[in-house]
Amino acid sequence: MTDPITARLDDPATAREEGRRKMDWAVQHMPIMASLRESFEADQPFAGERIGMAMHVEAKTAVLAEVLAAGGAEVAMTGCNPLSTHDDVSAALDAVEGVTCYAERGVDDEEYYAAIEAVIDHEPTITVDDGMDLVAAIHEDYPELIDTIVGGAEETTTGVHRLRAMDDDGALEYPVFAVNDTPMKRLFDNVHGTGESSLASIAMTTNLSWAGKTVVVAGYGNCGKGVAKKASGQNADVIVTEVEPRRALEAHMEGYDVMPMAEAAAEGDVFITTTGNRDVIVEEHFEAMQDGVLLANAGHFDVEVDLNALSALAVDTYEARDGVRAYEMADGRRLNVLAEGRLVNLATPIALGHPVEVMDQSFGIQAVCVRELVERGEAYAAGVHDVPDELDREVAEIKLDAEGVDFDSLTESQAEYMDSWQHGT
Ligand code: NAI
Repeated sequence: MTDPITARLDDPATAREEGRRKMDWAVQHMPIMASLRESFEADQPFAGERIGMAMHVEAKTAVLAEVLAAGGAEVAMTGCNPLSTHDDVSAALDAVEGVTCYAERGVDDEEYYAAIEAVIDHEPTITVDDGMDLVAAIHEDYPELIDTIVGGAEETTTGVHRLRAMDDDGALEYPVFAVNDTPMKRLFDNVHGTGESSLASIAMTTNLSWAGKTVVVAGYGNCGKGVAKKASGQNADVIVTEVEPRRALEAHMEGYDVMPMAEAAAEGDVFITTTGNRDVIVEEHFEAMQDGVLLANAGHFDVEVDLNALSALAVDTYEARDGVRAYEMADGRRLNVLAEGRLVNLATPIALGHPVEVMDQSFGIQAVCVRELVERGEAYAAGVHDVPDELDREVAEIKLDAEGVDFDSLTESQAEYMDSWQHGT
């Protein structure tokens, strides 16, 4: 049978080699994953488990899959976005013992969901998602598998939102860890990772400078904070739009201009959405924008910029650069959309995703969550669960150790003082 991945590549052997090189580079900068790999290889905690994964298939995620396989799991993986897969990494990963990878870049909707089903055909006992597509497909189309699923882990804010909504409806039938919500993930990956990689991807894709630009950041949550801070650090003027009053106030006190999108639309040179919500930039905003603006989305789904409305307004549209589509308005203005409105840090042709060190932390949490599910899965009822704090601390301590950073611990009397309500003035 023809290998579904390598069949698409001109030179499969070279592609595998290049993918392997990317993974080898990543792993050198992932001390948490290296440390976990060592213990998993020795203990084989995942022997007999089948782990289904739907994540952005690039070098760092490939390291996670490989580490889980090294711990004895059979891993089946696909992408969680049609544009974020690195085909060479997918091919290299598929060649790893114990791993099958179905991800391909640029697939259409039908192929995307066929790959999700191919993963589910492995009858996973554990799911690892970025956006909840596996959990959704299993609950909707393969409910018979739920009895043998120990649990899952979810990587991103949007996935956790969807899972909590499902849980509130009483529809989530196995336990899932909210990996996104741990300090070791959201305070680093969402803030620094999204900030650095979104700006890098936009700059490399357009070859334009940040200095002197007005950058409109929609949403001042974890991702928005990182994007705003790094844009400001590159000498851009930052405007923040928000719907949550305390977040708007926080942005104001941080020194950013805060205003509704209806006003910001006419001011911005670059727009970056980070809300996880839909229809954040719509027709009335397009009407007000200046010629040449850049529109980029860093939220999980491609619903933040209303591309249907933009297409309807456009008299012409063309590929201005690789990864940049220009929409020309009747009055001659050109509005430029990056990566088809998909995650800009992962879906432009040159996108690399978050820095390696950041993903070491996120995937360290994923890996210890999978270990927790195997070791103590029966202790967790169906529903969304916070990651136990000691697992988050474990990963932080491995990282600090690898960085050669020492830190204090509480003395006995300090610990007792902090736990007591009787000490006052
Ligand atoms: P968050 O919940 O911390 O922040 C979202 C913010 O957007 C909130 O403050 C909310 O009030 C605001 N918001 C909602 N609707 C809005 C609207 N119409 N206009 C302006 N503001 C609005 O979420 P977080 O962690 O920042 O994640 C945001 C999105 O980014 C999610 O879809 C998440 O999955 C995704 N994500 C993307 C990453 C990437 O690699 N590009 C990495 C991590 C998360």
